[in-house]
Amino acid sequence: MEFEEENERAVSPERKADDTGLNNLRPKSLDDFIGQKDVKQRLSILLEAALNRGGTVDHILFHGPPGLGKTTLAHIVAHEMGVNVKTTSGPAIDKPGDLAAIVSNLTPGDILFIDEIHRLRRNVEEVLYPAMEDFKIDIVIGEGPSAQSIRLDVPPFTLIGATTRTGLLTSPLRDRFEVVLHLEFYDVSAIEKIVLRGADLLNVEISDGKGGANEIARRSRGTPRVANRLLKRTRDYAEVRADGYIDREVAREALEMLGIDGSGLDKLDRRILETITEKFGGGPVGLDTISAALSEQKDTISDVYEPYLLTKGFIERTSQGRKVTEKGLEHLGYEDSRLF
Ligand SMILES: Nc1ncnc2c1ncn2[C@@H]1O[C@H](COP(=O)(O)OP(=O)(O)OP(=O)(O)O)[C@@H](O)[C@H]1O
Ligand SMILES: [Mg+2]
Repeated sequence: MEFEEENERAVSPERKADDTGLNNLRPKSLDDFIGQKDVKQRLSILLEAALNRGGTVDHILFHGPPGLGKTTLAHIVAHEMGVNVKTTSGPAIDKPGDLAAIVSNLTPGDILFIDEIHRLRRNVEEVLYPAMEDFKIDIVIGEGPSAQSIRLDVPPFTLIGATTRTGLLTSPLRDRFEVVLHLEFYDVSAIEKIVLRGADLLNVEISDGKGGANEIARRSRGTPRVANRLLKRTRDYAEVRADGYIDREVAREALEMLGIDGSGLDKLDRRILETITEKFGGGPVGLDTISAALSEQKDTISDVYEPYLLTKGFIERTSQGRKVTEKGLEHLGYEDSRLF
């Protein structure tokens, strides 16, 4: 069992690697959190009501593509409520007893944050049902015919779950979340503010208006994590090539060099589009086939890449598989869309 307090980097290190060193950019309060107006509004009412009642916050599920702020918001809720957060993740919990131990060791009011909650094993997940509903857990003592189940109280707590895929959550679990909040991709102006905020915290000089911050924002695929990462890479480039100052031209050069195009697509995004177009006549083609053709993991394609390509209208999901749209073909520079 892997269980860490206040250290989300312990959770699936391979996926979080790009957050290393970015955590200093993580907003701590709801006021600092840029964008996601609806989510913020619902959270602030929820928090204020809980504070007034002097009770715990209702269980919250955050879902949406990676890097949009699910973990950040879980920490913000804890910060605003003045409580501790214990962090773990679905695949890190092996046995029901492990989760039972975590829940019973919480202090009243604590937040239990379970990242990648869709990856909890079913028998582990079952521990959560009575815990979420009645703050109770069932423990089985002994084995075989003499086994006995006893019900124990656990401290009142708030469960915050995060998932990139609500579709994979079982309905008994999903139904027990009182508040379900979906994070959307950010618009360019919100990302621009995030870039400017990051630059300020990192002491990087960057032009606003239609300048460097806007150029980075336009290429950040609506995702704060990407924006922060591109800001850092652009800063490196600017330090070496432009005395550290990031204007529009410097940002454009740095990002082109990294293979990120004007719509924020990186090399793999473009390979996905090209593969569907060139190998499969524009589609429809199944995810398994695309993943095999590209030697990339299915989950990576469906969770990290597709949501943005869909948002941009470059691909379409049909019952027979993925298709490249006319707009996607145009983006690739195909003049003759009859090919499709
Ligand atoms: N609204 C925001 N304003 C400023 N920075 C943000 C915002 N949202 C997220 N960030 C930054 O983006 C990074 C990624 O956010 P976070 O780790 O919360 O994403 P996530 O949704 O949990 O992603 P994953 O699904 O991969 O776990 C953080 O380091 C944080 O600094
Ligand atoms: Mg996270």
